[in-house]
Amino acid sequence: MQLGRAEILSTKQPRPKITVVGAGNVGASVAQYAVEKELGDVVLVDVIEGVPQGKALDLAQAGPIHGYDSRLIGSNGYDESANSDIVVITAGLARKPGMTRDDLLFKNAEIVGSVVDQVVGRSKQAILILVTNPLDAMVQLAWKRSGWAPERVIGMAGVLDSSRFRTFIARELNVSVENVTAFVLGGHGDTMVPLPRYSTVAGIPITELLPKATIDALVQRTANGGAEIVGLLKTGSAYYAPAASTVEMVEAILKDKKKILPCAAYLNGQYGVRGLYVGVPVKLGRAGVEQVIEITLAPDEQAAFDKSAAAVRELVDKLKL
Ligand code: NAI
Ligand code: 2OP
Repeated sequence: MQLGRAEILSTKQPRPKITVVGAGNVGASVAQYAVEKELGDVVLVDVIEGVPQGKALDLAQAGPIHGYDSRLIGSNGYDESANSDIVVITAGLARKPGMTRDDLLFKNAEIVGSVVDQVVGRSKQAILILVTNPLDAMVQLAWKRSGWAPERVIGMAGVLDSSRFRTFIARELNVSVENVTAFVLGGHGDTMVPLPRYSTVAGIPITELLPKATIDALVQRTANGGAEIVGLLKTGSAYYAPAASTVEMVEAILKDKKKILPCAAYLNGQYGVRGLYVGVPVKLGRAGVEQVIEITLAPDEQAAFDKSAAAVRELVDKLKL
């Protein structure tokens, strides 16, 4: 049977729409992983003329080889992003050697604020995922600026930090990364809180598998994970693992998976924190953050979490949010 044009159009199912703002290293990789998983159509937005258009076209031309039919559009404006299901914001400056994430604060606040203004009116039902650093302050800013419910504005960092910890644990024990789960909570900065007690290999806590000195070294390497890569790359920061982490969140939301992942979420009393975005385990589904999961922290873990939340609060205060 031959399908005519009208029939082809009428049988077309609308795919979810994912807008990625910032078509640099992280944003382009998010677009790539998202279409490779056929999570939806992707709109790439950037201020540099030609770059989002060029990357979108290039990625579309990989479709026949990878076998994805997702549509990709690149733009220097936001009209093509209208009615997105998810908007990922990666726009901003990345770290260079010697820079902390906090050095990026004021410049990236300006960029993220302007991006949010463009996005919110055009995609009223979307979920916003923030990636731009300093992450926790940027997601707080985006939430305030959007006026949206906090469940629909989420930050990506914990999935990445936990994935780094999982990688180091798997390498240390020479086991499959698939056997390793790990939780890193707190802010996405030097004070992040890897939790060995809640990190397991095939269900066995790593505290039963590795000596304390080794765990301490893995924890330290995890907290320094972003800087380690900046030191190696010299001209920018990590992007493959950050993009993969973001796409895990996108997939959990679009497929309503109710997946438990560590994300920067708005706390309203949980973990003793009120009115602030900090990294905690959440249930991610079609509505965004559907639940903040409260796990019991030992006194030293709670103290480390409090210190990390205080560091986030300090940045947020600098932005007068
Ligand atoms: P990049 O420099 O490769 O890309 C950033 C892109 O944003 C550039 O193409 C730039 O033209 C664009 N941009 C700047 N201002 C814009 C605006 N107003 N509107 C639209 N686009 C704009 O940087 P990369 O490596 O992609 O990192 C992006 C951000 O993500 C950085 O702030 C970085 O620190 C952060 N990051 C956060 C991680 C996390 O765990 N939360 C992990 C990795 C990176
Ligand atoms: C990272 O952790 C730079 O925040 C970024 O790689």
